[in-house]
Amino acid sequence: MKHLLAIDQGTTSTRAIVFDPDGNKLGVAQRELPQSFPKPGWIEHDAQHIWDDTVACVQGAMADAGLAADEIAALGITNQRETAVLWDRKTGKPVCPAICWQDRRTSAFCQQHQDRNDWINEKTGLLLDPYFSATKLAWMLDHTEGARERAERGELAFGTVDAWLMWNLSGGQLHVTDATNASRTALFNIVTHDWDDELLDFFKVPRSLLPEVRDSAADYGQTEPELFGGPIRIGGIAGDQQAATIGQACFEPGMSKSTYGTGCFLVLNTGREFKRSKNRLLSTIAYRLNGETTYALEGSIFVAGAAVQWLRDAMHLIRAAGETEKLAQSIPDNDGVYLVPAFTGLGAPYWDPEARGAIFGLTRDSGIAHIVRAALESVGYQTRDLLDAMAKDALAPTELRVDGGMVVNDWLSQSLADLLQLPVVRPVTVETTALGAAFLAGLTVGVYASLDDIASRWQSETRFEPKMDPARANQLLVGWRDAVARVRCN
Ligand code: G3P
Repeated sequence: MKHLLAIDQGTTSTRAIVFDPDGNKLGVAQRELPQSFPKPGWIEHDAQHIWDDTVACVQGAMADAGLAADEIAALGITNQRETAVLWDRKTGKPVCPAICWQDRRTSAFCQQHQDRNDWINEKTGLLLDPYFSATKLAWMLDHTEGARERAERGELAFGTVDAWLMWNLSGGQLHVTDATNASRTALFNIVTHDWDDELLDFFKVPRSLLPEVRDSAADYGQTEPELFGGPIRIGGIAGDQQAATIGQACFEPGMSKSTYGTGCFLVLNTGREFKRSKNRLLSTIAYRLNGETTYALEGSIFVAGAAVQWLRDAMHLIRAAGETEKLAQSIPDNDGVYLVPAFTGLGAPYWDPEARGAIFGLTRDSGIAHIVRAALESVGYQTRDLLDAMAKDALAPTELRVDGGMVVNDWLSQSLADLLQLPVVRPVTVETTALGAAFLAGLTVGVYASLDDIASRWQSETRFEPKMDPARANQLLVGWRDAVARVRCN
């Protein structure tokens, strides 16, 4: 009985996948997750909907694999990070909409307190930005009737999506999270490994709201028996980018991966030492195993695949994401057209929540292909910005492992290698996020003996070497940076 089940709760969809120990997919179920946009810059989820979809997906994946609960060795959870959920401990119901990581409603507060950036960075490795959970939670407490008083009385619980799912999977028995998810809240001190009283004070968050923090591979109890026809052990939790780092077997310092989903997140393993970036990258927890923390440097870009979604759903320039590869290839050059997808501000290394998207360089000859190509290239330019910042921190990787929905596009993967001037390696399994969660669960229950055992199962599918002349790559980059400078507000 070595089958592993992963729940991958992402920003735009919820999935469950059953894997065999070698990472082969045996069953899968997926549901699209709607987001609401009640005001410009606001992005919310219905947490109840997230839970209902999770149950349906786990049941669906088990049915697809033809497996019963007692044939699954363990389950792992991975999730969109930072998204804040607040619920009633008694009823188990959310008391307000979940505020998504992309939401910018707290940007005025963050701007106002930028003088605290260094202080926050020393404790959490993060910056003061609406991206992280702390200001979202504070906002919920201030804007939901009675919430602050009820929180003070210990009646409410806060969690990132993993904690919300754990609460429900355990039938309200466990209020827990893992160290990687905790490290994204801006409330968890990644040096002392505890919720930080000074930060709780600053953000006005009562400690009683917070979950217990466990290792990424740990005993998380079992699922309520009636949910899936019998109990399933829960053996691992990691935020989705950390799970992808594990799924890509980036276990040595200097190894890096970049995942192209809704956003793009480049994570570089920096080993056992907490290293602070001097170039506005984040320091974060890559994973915590047996109480030992491995740290990472992270570059977070808010819009990658979401730009293609925008081309499809808002602009109606394409019908399906798959069309972008042909369109981008149909012209030999970008002809000076740049798209800056700052739809929800700019993330690393700019951290400009008020910046907004724009297209530059249009001429009478520009067409759909130019805009599509510019959207795909923006992913490469943004990744290059992150790598340049890492290089300034003297921590540049020598190759980049890539994954996520976008990298099945060969043109995009080659363009990444060209713009980054770095080999880009695509693995056989690009479902690395879910796989990472399964690996963690498998580590807990003994399906894997060690991280080396996991690493031996990782396989490269294609290695894209840079083909573009470095001078040309630099020239393109100058055009990109000029475009970025024009949308910036800070
Ligand atoms: O930090 C946000 C990240 O965890 C969301 O990932 O894959 O849903 O874009 P994704």
